[in-house]
Amino acid sequence: MKISIRKKIFLAFAMFLVISGLIWLQSYRSQYILNQKIQIIERKYELFNAILEARRYEKNYFLTFDRKNIDQTLTYVNIAENSLRSILTKYGKYTLAKNLDERITELEEYKDSLVNLLKLQKNGHLAVPGDFIQLIQKQGRKITSELEKIVKKESQFTRDLIRKSKMIHLIALLPVFILSILVALFLIFNVDRPLKTIGNAIIKISRGDFQNIPEIHTGDEFESLVTSLNSMIKELNKRNKELVQAQKLASLGRLTSGVAHELNNPLNNISTSVQILVEELEDDDLEYKKELLIGAEKEVERSKEIVKSLLEFARERSLTLKRTYFKNLVNNAIKRVKSQVPDNITFKVEVPDDIQATVGPLGIERVLINLIVNAVQAMKNGGDVTIKACKQESNSGFCFQVIDTGEGIPEEIITKIFDPFFTTKEVGKGTGLGLSIIYGIMEQHDGKIKVSSEQGKGTTFTCFLPFDQPE
Ligand SMILES: Nc1ncnc2c1ncn2[C@@H]1O[C@H](COP(=O)(O)OP(=O)(O)OP(=O)(O)O)[C@@H](O)[C@H]1O
Ligand SMILES: [Mg+2]
Repeated sequence: MKISIRKKIFLAFAMFLVISGLIWLQSYRSQYILNQKIQIIERKYELFNAILEARRYEKNYFLTFDRKNIDQTLTYVNIAENSLRSILTKYGKYTLAKNLDERITELEEYKDSLVNLLKLQKNGHLAVPGDFIQLIQKQGRKITSELEKIVKKESQFTRDLIRKSKMIHLIALLPVFILSILVALFLIFNVDRPLKTIGNAIIKISRGDFQNIPEIHTGDEFESLVTSLNSMIKELNKRNKELVQAQKLASLGRLTSGVAHELNNPLNNISTSVQILVEELEDDDLEYKKELLIGAEKEVERSKEIVKSLLEFARERSLTLKRTYFKNLVNNAIKRVKSQVPDNITFKVEVPDDIQATVGPLGIERVLINLIVNAVQAMKNGGDVTIKACKQESNSGFCFQVIDTGEGIPEEIITKIFDPFFTTKEVGKGTGLGLSIIYGIMEQHDGKIKVSSEQGKGTTFTCFLPFDQPE
């Protein structure tokens, strides 16, 4: 059964309320009984003390035969009787001694005997019969011992009640403890984890990685949140593609003017050379004519080079995928550029042998060659080109870097370097298509390229490539 988070929280809250309510009720009941017991004990001590006082005067009478002692005894017996009756009416339900009626009868019998004794005294019978004395003493003793028992029993019960109440409070903590753990676990699994997954996905999105969030099947608000976020990501991807398309159209304009400008220069040079040759056809300065022809050939070569780069840039490359060791691609790329690299430049390769990925090998080799050539061109006074690679923690792909110790890229142009025809190189040295070609190849591989640079210290191009290409 799938329950929404709101219902789960409500359930946990309701359980907390029920358990706390039960604990509170139990505690209130114990407190109430305890309060009654304390009052009963106080009353019973008063009663017990009254009986003790009565017995003291009774003993005094039998020693002195002074009438006043019987009066005093009767006074205390009456006090005792009154308190016993009030205990019975007020706390009868809570007192442990269930046969308090019998105690009242005993008290009354004791009182009657005392009244009879008083009568004997008044009639002038000073010698009290021995068995009458014994009866009174026996009755007195019985009441005293019965009441003592009751008081002791009540105190014992109260002590037990306090102990029990402590135990109940301790035991009641157990369900609260278990419920707290359950609530904590619920929060971790049902709230914290989905929130982390969604949080990570949003961080990825903010980095430009518009991948769908893995679906969760909790049946609650998080599941619908993930579904909504995924449709948002789909929409963002669509918008992104539209934006790229718009950017492509914009760069097409820049491209056209770039092509016109780039091809215009060599064509002008060729045209000037040919014009001179035509005009001075009769002239026999062969050396000069040869020079013009070689110049024209060079310009033709340059134009061809521009057209080749343009074709490469514009081509809809079809990827021929192959499982390839990345280190082999690095070694091939270095071999291909080595002849154009001056001696004051050193290559350092820190690439593990076991990085293998399914890529278009020619495309990735082109990426490496273009990056290495740019690095070499940025180090007029020599330096190091380091090529590093390492697997990603997620194990979905690997990163590689081409690091140079060259002049660096000024901050104001760093956002433009991937634009087609953007170059800072002097006319004839660069077409400005190298990085835009790289960008296209990386995108085709579902990869990424980033640049970081510090002027005067060097530049690092960092690329990410997945191990596998989607079918
Ligand atoms: N490693 C680097 N160090 C410094 N600047 C760089 C580096 N790589 C690229 N750049 C800058 O980016 C610009 C564009 O590079 P890109 O490779 O696209 O074109 P290019 O090298 O100028 O010409 P092409 O590659 O077509 O011969 C370069 O002109 C240069 O200013
Ligand atoms: Mg270049």
